[in-house]
Amino acid sequence: MPAISASAPGKIILFGEHAVVYSQPAIAAPVLQVRAKAILTADPRGKPGSVSLQAPGIGLEAELQTLPQRHPLRAAVEATLRRLDVTHVPACNIRITSTIPVAAGLGSGAAVSVALARGISAFLGKPLPDEIVSAIAYEVEEIHHGTPSGIDNTVITCGMPVFFVRGEPIEQLRVPEPFTYVIGDSGVRSPTAIAVGDVRQRWEADRLGYERIFGAIGEIARSARAAIEQGKPQELGGLMAANHAYLQQIGVSSAQLDGLVVAALNAGAQGAKLCGGGLGGNMIALAPAGGGAKIAQALQDAGATRTIITEVKQRST
Ligand code: PMV
Repeated sequence: MPAISASAPGKIILFGEHAVVYSQPAIAAPVLQVRAKAILTADPRGKPGSVSLQAPGIGLEAELQTLPQRHPLRAAVEATLRRLDVTHVPACNIRITSTIPVAAGLGSGAAVSVALARGISAFLGKPLPDEIVSAIAYEVEEIHHGTPSGIDNTVITCGMPVFFVRGEPIEQLRVPEPFTYVIGDSGVRSPTAIAVGDVRQRWEADRLGYERIFGAIGEIARSARAAIEQGKPQELGGLMAANHAYLQQIGVSSAQLDGLVVAALNAGAQGAKLCGGGLGGNMIALAPAGGGAKIAQALQDAGATRTIITEVKQRST
């Protein structure tokens, strides 16, 4: 049997992180420059049913059954087998690699789950539809951060820019005028669960105030959708500034992220904001035509450990 390989991209949230957990709309897009990949090979000499996993990026080499039940890789494999109604797997090796930084707001966990679900189902000759692949990734996210909105698994599975509202059908964004973002990594790893948990605590203490902020962020996402779909991405700058200010207010920015935002604006970015869970991880800056490289350099000079220049466009699988 030839090796089967499947992959999934990273993602950025352009508008609406955190508020999306409380049912406000958000906008996200895939980042094709970084990917998670699963390669499956049959092991004709292996014990029937034995699945060996290798994930060199996190120093993991183990039999599936020896991992804790809630380990994300084990959870993703088992959720996939359950959906396929398969109880017996031919002995195989699964190698997982990823160029998506972990705990950085770029969706690495969801991308690994999507690559695994796609790879395993293809390996067993029963490729799963996107809807189920996305549901598997959601299940795994739930184990680790309790109340995921579902935006990560959705955008990573469908591989196109989306306008997302929790629990509602996916809406693909029309992008008549592609636009460019520079992603800057603060170098600080920050698990989403911590930021989401902190926000939940503060929301519980001041529901009215937080609902008002989330509502305002939702309005920003709606205005951003209109600007994108009308082919006026240059109008997104002000909306990004307003969104970042609200994220600061709910306590998920950091000195490093704020420093990178200022550096990007000083280098000519039309707008900049943190991206994803916050407290660390990445920020994004909207670049004018041809201005991406200068902003990337400024971000590196200001301490970004990595920069990626990416384009948001209509369809990008
Ligand atoms: O995985 P991250 O760090 O990009 O964060 C996901 C976005 C949040 O809104 C903070 C959480 C969620 O479930 O939507």
